[in-house]
Amino acid sequence: MSSPISVIVNGRPHSGMVDNRTSLLDLLREQVGLTGTKKGCDAGACGACTVLVEGRRVNACLTLAVRLDGAEVTTIEGLAGRQGDELHPLQQAFIDQDAFQCGFCTPGQILSGVACIREGHSGSPEEIREWMSGNICRCGCYVKIVKAVEQTAVEQTAEEG
Ligand code: FES
Ligand code: FES
Repeated sequence: MSSPISVIVNGRPHSGMVDNRTSLLDLLREQVGLTGTKKGCDAGACGACTVLVEGRRVNACLTLAVRLDGAEVTTIEGLAGRQGDELHPLQQAFIDQDAFQCGFCTPGQILSGVACIREGHSGSPEEIREWMSGNICRCGCYVKIVKAVEQTAVEQTAEEG
């Protein structure tokens, strides 16, 4: 059984028919054509597919696309500045801190980190580790990932203050 859906992905409307069993992850990768969101476990255990729905982080592999009719979705492709040439501060911090090796987990780590900071869960390395614990990095870059999130949180606090 299929249903019509309409979603806003990175500010652009996308409409079409989807099989009711389609995950948001498959919608993004196979229908919208945005492959920056990665499929790791496809079972909610690794965080590689993390995206923002209405500003809140979700595992796209566990989210049914049909339930998102009308929703706003942000993926890694939508984080940079409007022209795509100005990185989001957390993307820049990942580069500054050298917070990746193979990069497979990185889009999910960055989306999760953006939400972690917005949620106010980035007050200390321990807090960041706790609230990012759903994002697995098989290359073991955790120390640098936490530093990147911390760097961005500190920069944003300084800008606000
Ligand atoms: Fe979604 Fe692993 S692919 S949590
Ligand atoms: Fe390779 Fe995280 S950088 S899995």
